[in-house]
Amino acid sequence: AGVLVGLLVATCGYTWVLRQPSGAVGGVAVKELKLGHSLDLNHPVHLAMERMAERLEELSGGRLTLSISPNGQLGNEVECIELTQRGSMALTKTSTATLEGFLPEFAAFGVPYLFRDEEHFWSVLHGEIGDELLEACTTQNLRGLCWYDAGARSFYTVKTPINTPADLKGLKIRVQESKTAIAMVEALGGAPTPMNFGELYTSLQQSLVDGAENNPPSFSSSRHYEVCKEYSLDEHTMVPDLLLVSEIAWQKLSEQEQGWLRQAAADSAVLQRELWKERSDKALEVVQESGVQVTRPDKQPFIDAVRPMHESYEGTDVGALLERILAVE
Ligand code: GCU
Repeated sequence: AGVLVGLLVATCGYTWVLRQPSGAVGGVAVKELKLGHSLDLNHPVHLAMERMAERLEELSGGRLTLSISPNGQLGNEVECIELTQRGSMALTKTSTATLEGFLPEFAAFGVPYLFRDEEHFWSVLHGEIGDELLEACTTQNLRGLCWYDAGARSFYTVKTPINTPADLKGLKIRVQESKTAIAMVEALGGAPTPMNFGELYTSLQQSLVDGAENNPPSFSSSRHYEVCKEYSLDEHTMVPDLLLVSEIAWQKLSEQEQGWLRQAAADSAVLQRELWKERSDKALEVVQESGVQVTRPDKQPFIDAVRPMHESYEGTDVGALLERILAVE
């Protein structure tokens, strides 16, 4: 990347900067898009977005760039979505669980044991339903660019292995800011505590919660395993991540710039799925080496316990979406 010469204007989620491209004479106006998210620098989703930034530079010859702020530096997921809606942030990466507060149909991903396997999950995301959900974001001044794998979520606790739902009794479990996540932990018999991801490490340390639930890369890269020594792979939900661009910022881009961004996002999604596989296995090794006991409980009692939750959606829009998801081959 070239040398930053001066800052021109900051508007609509991007900043105009004058840069001196390496080897060139004089400054060139460069549009720098801001992206905020809550994961850390080692997380495979962050690494894929770094790749997106590189691709964008390549495709645009350095004229359109991406500046990524990880670790919730620019706000938690809800705040980042709001900033993106207003156009103060060009892009954000969020979990569909958080998006549920803005677009109720995203609740579907929070319904436990919905997908038969990974293949089913990806047929849904890369098929008609996935496209419709990306499209639905426009009603919220957002535009869905691509899906990122976020694996399956499972419980981890400071000291109680969760072998059956009964083990959750009396335990305070941190959940995402999602009504469905709250309903799930209640259905399983635990006490749900919604909280931002960024606050969780300290809350676990201070025993404000007894545990949480997440995929292996997030459990590992957040270092929650330093406090939580039991990880029970019940794999209750498959909640994907989603890359969102602000509709306001999008409309300010030329067609060519939109094309570069689309392409860079699509390329990052392909790489992300490869990275995800590698990092998920690696994450389990890392946590085990640091003394975490990883168990694989029988899923049936968990499936039985959340059955009323599935039934509770009957006759609703989410219920109709659940049926369509189940019907996908
Ligand atoms: C996953 C997801 C994040 C989310 C986090 C959470 O790691 O990728 O977007 O913030 O879960 O539990 O809040």
